[in-house]
Amino acid sequence: MSPREEGSESEAQGEIGKASATAPANIAFIKYWGALDLNRALPENPSISMTLTSCLTHTTVEYTRGEAEEDEVFLVSPNGELSPAPSPFAGPVLRHLNEIRQALGERAGLGVEEGTEGGGHFRVATRNTFPSAAGMASSASGFSALAVAAVRALGLELSIEELSRLARRSGSGSAARSVMGGYVEWPRGNGENESHAFTLAEAEHWDLRDVVAVVETAPKEVSSREGHRRARTSPYYPRRQELLAGRLEAVRRAIADRDFDHLGPVIEEEAVDLHLIAMSSDPPIFYWGPATVAVLAELRRLRRQGLAAWATMDAGANVHVICQPHDEAALAAHLQALPGVVGVIRDRVGHGPETDVPHLF
Ligand code: PMV
Repeated sequence: MSPREEGSESEAQGEIGKASATAPANIAFIKYWGALDLNRALPENPSISMTLTSCLTHTTVEYTRGEAEEDEVFLVSPNGELSPAPSPFAGPVLRHLNEIRQALGERAGLGVEEGTEGGGHFRVATRNTFPSAAGMASSASGFSALAVAAVRALGLELSIEELSRLARRSGSGSAARSVMGGYVEWPRGNGENESHAFTLAEAEHWDLRDVVAVVETAPKEVSSREGHRRARTSPYYPRRQELLAGRLEAVRRAIADRDFDHLGPVIEEEAVDLHLIAMSSDPPIFYWGPATVAVLAELRRLRRQGLAAWATMDAGANVHVICQPHDEAALAAHLQALPGVVGVIRDRVGHGPETDVPHLF
């Protein structure tokens, strides 16, 4: 039975609906770093990413009238038990639920008083399929799964562009790219209605792999939100903006032509620039650890030996190494053997959110 059918069945018991979704993380080749409007997550520069397969968030959303007094957020343990999410986790989820309510309330026929006392409320349960202790960014997959499941729980169907905008309104802009699969571009923000991502190429177009060298498992000290805010204080920020047009074009062309030799150097240079800007922001942000540098050195050594693998890093110390399928196993073995690498996650380009998945409660 699909979540949709189950939703309408439960309507008879006073619920509007219940739906579940999984959504994957994505890894950016050209990064979102610096915002025109941070609160609305309108980016200053276009970004391009690859949607992943294995690093997923699985979320169930139920919208009920009259039962709960407020929206509720639960985390689901590996053995399936629900526990109330701690407030640092629940806060952004509750804010996003309010955004969703504002954006869709009228269309879903919720009425103005919904979400206030006596109105309807969301109940959300969520879990990551990748080790949450792996220090992997989960906000893109998390807010994308939340948007997809909430829309269905409200009985609505949105275009992919609307879904992308809705995920972006979480404040984690990169979630705008996780609602679709394959290779995705998210343009510079112009206005509220224009800031949504679009597909550059489907996953089938090019089978690329992402071997993540996990070197840090603790949460990062400075959030990406704060990183976006400080980016403009770096003297190198304007220079990166000048270089980006060429880089974007090179990445678009490399994806269209499945040209790994041209893709690799650009994505590594771009990631290093993000960190250069972070390190030269005021106050500076150092996301790298010693093992980050060790992984980058190992990649240079492997490339000299003919193994084509290139790094990209988000706002953290872990290194995503992009490679072609025939190099994945050898690359993973090399990375795993490095001191400071606590684990390796092997992921690949994927198809985006799924809705035909089990409910978590
Ligand atoms: O979506 P946010 O606000 O968490 O920012 C994402 C920032 C990076 O992951 C570093 C880059 C990106 O484009 O994914």
